[in-house]
Amino acid sequence: MSDDKPLRRSKEEQTADISEAQIAVHWPEEDYFSPSAKFIAQANLTDAGVFERFSLDRFPECFREFADLLDWNQRWEKTLDTSNPPFWRWFVGGKLNACFNCIDRHLARHKNKTAIHFVPEPENETVHHITYQELFVRVNEFAALLRDFCGLKTGDRVTLHLPMVAELPITMLACARLGVIHSQVFSGFSGKACADRAVDSESRVLITMDAYYRVGKLLDHKEKADIAVAEAAKEGHKVHKVLIWQRYPGKHSSPTKLVEGRDVIVNDLLKKYRGKRVEPAPLPAEAPLFLMYTSGTTGKPKGCQHSIGGYLAYVTWTSKYIQDIHPEDVYWCMADIGWITGHSYIVYGPLALGASSVVYEGVPTHPDAGRPWRIAEDLDVNIFHTSPTAIRALRRDGPDEPAKYHHHFKHMTTVGEPIEPVVWKWYHKMVGKGEAVIVDTWWQTENGGFLCSTVPAIHKMKPGSAGPGIPGIHPVIYDDEGKELPAGSGKAGNICIRNPWPGSFQTIWKDADRYVNQYYARYCKDRKSKDWRDWPYMAGDGAVQAADGYYRILGRIDDVINVAGHRLGTKEIESAALIVAEVAEAAVVPVADPIKGKVPDLYVSLKPGLKASKEIAGKVSAAIVSEIGAIARPREVVIVPDMPKTRSGKIMRRVLAAISNRQDPGDVSTLANPEVVDKIKELVK
Ligand code: WT7
Repeated sequence: MSDDKPLRRSKEEQTADISEAQIAVHWPEEDYFSPSAKFIAQANLTDAGVFERFSLDRFPECFREFADLLDWNQRWEKTLDTSNPPFWRWFVGGKLNACFNCIDRHLARHKNKTAIHFVPEPENETVHHITYQELFVRVNEFAALLRDFCGLKTGDRVTLHLPMVAELPITMLACARLGVIHSQVFSGFSGKACADRAVDSESRVLITMDAYYRVGKLLDHKEKADIAVAEAAKEGHKVHKVLIWQRYPGKHSSPTKLVEGRDVIVNDLLKKYRGKRVEPAPLPAEAPLFLMYTSGTTGKPKGCQHSIGGYLAYVTWTSKYIQDIHPEDVYWCMADIGWITGHSYIVYGPLALGASSVVYEGVPTHPDAGRPWRIAEDLDVNIFHTSPTAIRALRRDGPDEPAKYHHHFKHMTTVGEPIEPVVWKWYHKMVGKGEAVIVDTWWQTENGGFLCSTVPAIHKMKPGSAGPGIPGIHPVIYDDEGKELPAGSGKAGNICIRNPWPGSFQTIWKDADRYVNQYYARYCKDRKSKDWRDWPYMAGDGAVQAADGYYRILGRIDDVINVAGHRLGTKEIESAALIVAEVAEAAVVPVADPIKGKVPDLYVSLKPGLKASKEIAGKVSAAIVSEIGAIARPREVVIVPDMPKTRSGKIMRRVLAAISNRQDPGDVSTLANPEVVDKIKELVK
């Protein structure tokens, strides 16, 4: 057990918490699967010498190869400046524009090629095929609107709360053209969650859509913008303008009224900008491209700041060599652009390579579990990318569906959570028809792109394991004392990366201390050191490395729950519960779920004199949905007479997690109130 708890803490503290690693499934090592000769024959990367080329002695100059995939207005002078660790500066002195690299540079040869296939959720609506030329026109006109109507300029931040529609990449790329920093908030997040992010990033403009389809219903989305603006005002921040795209151009699909002087219908206003062109701004490589908020150990989400040059170089290289994207490929990543996966591997990476990228509005199992395979067949998608949660749901609802369709994938990705070998094998056999290679890619919002994965034409695949570090990434597992755990030790520890890499975030927006403390302080030997070797990046995941060098990721070692591949901070959920007046204490624990990997269970105790009721439990659940979003809705709200506590008063989440997971809570005799454990067990039954 202690191997799974690499953080240094007192004995009492160690038992007071539960980490995902502790309840992670420990499946045995699996046999290898080999990539087909057909795949290898066409692959972008087949030379195993790549690892030599990216060895640590070639660091950091090896990464020039990444940046060379881009068009630069001005070439960089220094590949990496490490003079102020851990604030790494990549491609210093270089200038470029991300939008130019994703659109303009393809026009000469590919202007008539589809850049984005937008697939609406209702199956009777036609698919929109947006060519690179059309994307160019739409992005230019919208960039002109942002500049001339909103007064936005390089370095300003804008919050986007857009669903999975083509207007989302259009908006991102228009921002990138001007050097405006976009901060897209997942559309499933609540108005309040959107407000918190708009406040933190000091966005004066919020860009949204009136409505979008989800599970067969046209949802009113604009109402969330009204909540967001009102909530931001409560926090003393004024959002001046709300730009509203129409799901059906020319028609307002939300019952919510427009607010005079604040709300603007983009589709109407755009007519004024017809034919307008905006020069892509040549920007420093280290200027920020976007913020992506993610959850951490404290209640406040952190804005991961990603650069233009390093980030774009990283996602372009990894899209080319790990996703094996060729310009003629039709590529579909079924993630949401509201998460980092969508930014890197729906928008920036594939478009920088001039590929065709599919944007699907709805849920994979709507109207039935054959939907993704129909889309893939119709568009002749040959690269497919999704999460274990989606794969599990498709397998449950339509285990034999893929066989009914004539799609052929050469390559498939899984990302975001550990995948059970049995699910992996179904994905391989049924979805991939035994032909597709699979890469299990491990990385995080902070990282910009893949860290561990097999290189698809070089390595064999091993179900349930991510693979070694990708070329240029040198992972290491440290134990509690900072000792390296070698490959094949069979011991779990804390996975870190020895070296900086171009895709890594630059800092946490307005919180440089948190950036240093959370990711670099733990294993830094000397805080004064100017040598990058002294500053390993700590990911916050438990992992084991097998003798073959492949990493198996066990899950978070901190207070983060990975629900359906999305990160939720337990503290965020707990603080939302505490908003309910009746609640005295709240504790969230992860519960294993057959589809979503993990779901949160919430335990609350009430203020003195109050009686537990369904009504209070309902109120707590509703508070979490409105503070964060439906994704954080607890499976169960359990109102307990008292929390199990250590003598020092710390809530024993480990005990609660054991109860929720139907496991033995172990020895509870050292608790301050051991008698409460049986009472809680009764309640959960
Ligand atoms: C956390 C990061 C980066 C894309 C989506 C999630 C877990 C991610 C894997 C994988 C096992 C994985 C880790 C990580 N995770 N990929 N292939 N196998 N676990 O981004 O929301 O920043 O979450 O997801 O625990 O720390 P994120």
